[in-house]
Amino acid sequence: MAKIEKYEPGLEEKIMECWNNILEKDPITMEVFERKILLDPNFVNDGFLIAWENDEIAGFIINIYSRYPLFYQKIEKNAGWITVLAFKNDKEGLSIGRELLDKSLEWFRKNDKNVIYFSSYIPNYFTPGIDAEAYPHIYKILIEFGFEEIYEALAMDTSLWPKLTYPDNIESIVQRLRNEGIKFSFMKTKYLRPFIDFLEKNMPADWYRHALELLKRNRKNQIIIAVKENEVVGYCQFWNGEGYDWYSKGAHFGPFGVREDFRGKGIGTVLLYKCLAEMKKNGIHNAFVLWTDERAGRLYSRFGFNVTRRFKVMKKVL
Ligand SMILES: CC(C)(COP(=O)(O)OP(=O)(O)OC[C@H]1O[C@@H](n2cnc3c(N)ncnc32)[C@H](O)[C@@H]1OP(=O)(O)O)[C@@H](O)C(=O)NCCC(=O)NCCS
Repeated sequence: MAKIEKYEPGLEEKIMECWNNILEKDPITMEVFERKILLDPNFVNDGFLIAWENDEIAGFIINIYSRYPLFYQKIEKNAGWITVLAFKNDKEGLSIGRELLDKSLEWFRKNDKNVIYFSSYIPNYFTPGIDAEAYPHIYKILIEFGFEEIYEALAMDTSLWPKLTYPDNIESIVQRLRNEGIKFSFMKTKYLRPFIDFLEKNMPADWYRHALELLKRNRKNQIIIAVKENEVVGYCQFWNGEGYDWYSKGAHFGPFGVREDFRGKGIGTVLLYKCLAEMKKNGIHNAFVLWTDERAGRLYSRFGFNVTRRFKVMKKVL
C-alpha cells in the first residue's frame, strides 16, 4: 500500500519529475505547473493527492471543483473534475492508481460533489479527456471505477509550411459574403464592444475569458472577426503556449465560433483561412487545435488538419 498524502508547498520539483516520467506525451514545465495548477483560483491543496512509495512520488491525482464562477458561466454545484491522474503502467502502478482514485472519490463525496468528470475542467484542463492509446492503464482504471465516456474530443494538427493547404474557392466565398454585407477584419477598437456583446450572447464563458485575456494585452492582431452591419457574427483567434506568455503569437488555433444563424455560409472557412495565413506570415510553421469534434473536424481537414490524438471525456455519477 502506498502512502497517500495531500500536496505540500515545496514538493513541486518532485511532482514534476514524476509527471514528466509518467505522462510522456504531456510533459510540462514549472511555469505551466504554477500557472495552471497553483494559481488556479479553484485549486485547494487537499484536492491534490500524492502517492508515496519508499520516499519517492509514485503517482498523483488532481481533484478540483468550482469555488468561483467564471464570468457568466454558472457554477455546476454538484460537479467535480479530475484534471490529471498519473501512475506507472505496471502491477504496482495499477494498485497505486486504484488507491488514488478511491481517495479522490472520497474527497469529492466529502465536498458534496457527485458528478465527476475526467478531465475537461474549464479553464485549466491539460487535455479534454483521457488519451486511451497513450495511457491504456489509466483508461482501464477509470473504466474499472465506473467512469463512462460521454464524448470523444479530437486534437488536430496541420503544417503551414512550406505550403498552406486551403480550399481553392476561398476568393469566391469572400466575394459572395461581401455581397451579403459580411466582411472580415482584424479586431479594432470600434469592434471591441460589438465583439464582447457577441461573445456574451453566443459563446461559452471560457471563450469570453480567452478573448478578454488577449484583448487586455492589446493582442488585436491575433483576433479576426466577421462583421455584418457593425455586428460581430463570427471570430477566431490564435495564440501560443501553456506558460505565462501563452497569449503571444503561436501555433494554437482557436477558439473559433460563428453565430448559429450565420453558420454553413462559409464564414468559418474564410476566418480559418485568414487566421492560418496570418500565422504563416508570422513565421509559424504549424497549427493545432486541442479540442474539437468530428463535425468541425471536417472543416479543419479541408485545411490539411489531421487527427493527432483522441481524448475520451469521461463522467461518473457517485
Ligand atoms: C465550426 C464553425 C466555427 C464553422 O463555421 P461556419 O461558418 O459554419 O463554417 P463554414 O460554413 O465555412 O463550413 C461549414 C463546416 O463547418 C462545420 N460545422 C457546421 N456547423 C457546425 C456546428 N454546429 N458545429 C461544429 N461544426 C460545424 C462543418 O464541418 C461544416 O462542413 P459540412 O457542412 O461539410 O459538415 C461554426 O459551425 C461554429 O461556431 N460551431 C460551434 C462552435 C465550434 O464547434 N467551434 C469549433 C471548435 S474547435
